[in-house]
Order: sequence, then C-alpha cells, then structure tokens
Amino acid sequence: MQTLWTEIDNYYAGLFLPEDAVLNAAVADSRAAGLPEIAVAPNQGKLLCLLAKIKGARRILEIGTLGGYSTIWMARALPEDGKLIALELDPSCAAVAQKNIARAGLAEKVEIRVGPALETLAALQAEGAEPFDLIFIDADKENNPGYFERALALSKGGTLIIADNVVRQGAVLDKDSADSAVQGLRRMNDMAAAEPRIEATAIQTVGVKGLDGLGLFLVMPD
Ligand code: SAH
Ligand code: DHB
Ligand code: MG
Repeated sequence: MQTLWTEIDNYYAGLFLPEDAVLNAAVADSRAAGLPEIAVAPNQGKLLCLLAKIKGARRILEIGTLGGYSTIWMARALPEDGKLIALELDPSCAAVAQKNIARAGLAEKVEIRVGPALETLAALQAEGAEPFDLIFIDADKENNPGYFERALALSKGGTLIIADNVVRQGAVLDKDSADSAVQGLRRMNDMAAAEPRIEATAIQTVGVKGLDGLGLFLVMPD
C-alpha cells in the first residue's frame, strides 16, 4: 500500500502544494545536517497551516521542532504581530531550525527555546505566558502526558492542541507495550478522554510518511 499512498500524496501535492524553495531548502539542509527524516509530510504541514489560519491563531506553541519544517508551516499562518514559541531539546537541531526559519523570513515571529520541554514549559508557565491559540505536541512521546498537562495549563477556551504520531503504525493498540513512547501516547489519550475541558478526536493518516495519525484536542471554555 505504501506505493499507492505515496502516489496519492504526490498527486495532491501536484495540485495543491506548489514547489516551495524555502521548504525544499529546509528539508535539504536538515538532511545534510544528519537530522532524522521525521518531519510532518508536506500535506500535513499545510493542514497545520490551514488549522492555524482557521483559528486565526496569534500565538502558537510547538513542542519538538527538529529542523523547523512544521514550524515554518505554522508560522506562515501568523499575522504580522503573531508569535510562535518552538521548544527543542537538541541545540544542533535548534541551530538548523534557526537557519531554516530565518531563510523563510520568519525569524522575528519565531522564538526557539532550547532545553528539555518539560523544563521550558514549566518556565513558560512560571513567567505567566499568555495562553496559546494552537499547540503542536511532537517531541519525545514518553513525555506526552506531561506535555499535555502543561499544554492545557497554557491554553484558554478555544485553544486547539494537536498531537502528532498518535497511531505509530498501529503500535498504539498494544496496551502492554514495552515501548515507553506507546505508553506515553496511551496515557495522554486517557488523560484527554477523562478531561472535561477537552473535546477530542483522532484521525489515522497514510501517505509519504506511512501510517500514523493526528490527535485533535479542543479546549472548551471554563
Ligand atoms: N515537529 C517537527 C518534528 C519533530 S521530531 C516537524 O514535524 O518538522 C521530534 C523533536 O523533538 C526532535 O527534534 C527531538 O530532538 C525533540 N525532542 C526530543 N525530546 C525532547 C525533549 N525532552 N524536549 C524537547 N524536545 C525534544
Ligand atoms: C518519530 C518522531 C516523530 O515526531 C515522527 O513524526 C515520526 C517518527 C520517531 O521518533 O521515530
Ligand atoms: Mg512527529
């Protein structure tokens, strides 16, 4: 099926995703720097961009930035005075991302904070950061429960929290998995299901990146 999924992604990319020199360069430089090829697919990046536009997002938080590919897609949706805070553990990823973001003309809207996201999230909360309109969780999945809790604390009614990789080729089904990433994912899902402030769904995705999925968590007003 992978060949078919890829052909279909390519068909739609040909229609709806014009050649994009800035994103191509971000992918090429990320590859050249040896970063793993685990950024969201182009049509998923565009989905993040459209969701940010639909929300009229002015403040976006990204947890897990890698080379800044998804960051660029989301930051493009921001208005002139909008801001995206991007959290990344690895300083060498952050350096690649910073260059890619600058080339995209988005350096003034994007601030990368380097460090373990559980710590940078706690710092954001401690400094009384304004709530975010859109939060994209896409870092180490074992920490998803902590990220989800912090994301909720940095939300307001109407905030959309999106989690990447909620299917993992079906691994999510294994409740006894020895993989801490699967355990973290399932624990986050249980938290979301039990949280009265959240209306949630999850969508399986196939395409150039195989079988995976996106979790969508909408925060209700208090
Ligand atoms: N969102 C990116 C892909 C992110 S890949 C995109 O779609 O383009 C996951 C990223 O999370 C990696 O860059 C990894 O270094 C980072 N990461 C892993 N553990 C982390 C942690 N504890 N805190 C912050 N970032 C972390
Ligand atoms: C992995 C991480 C991701 O964020 C992703 O989109 C795909 C794969 C990984 O760690 O393998
Ligand atoms: Mg991901």
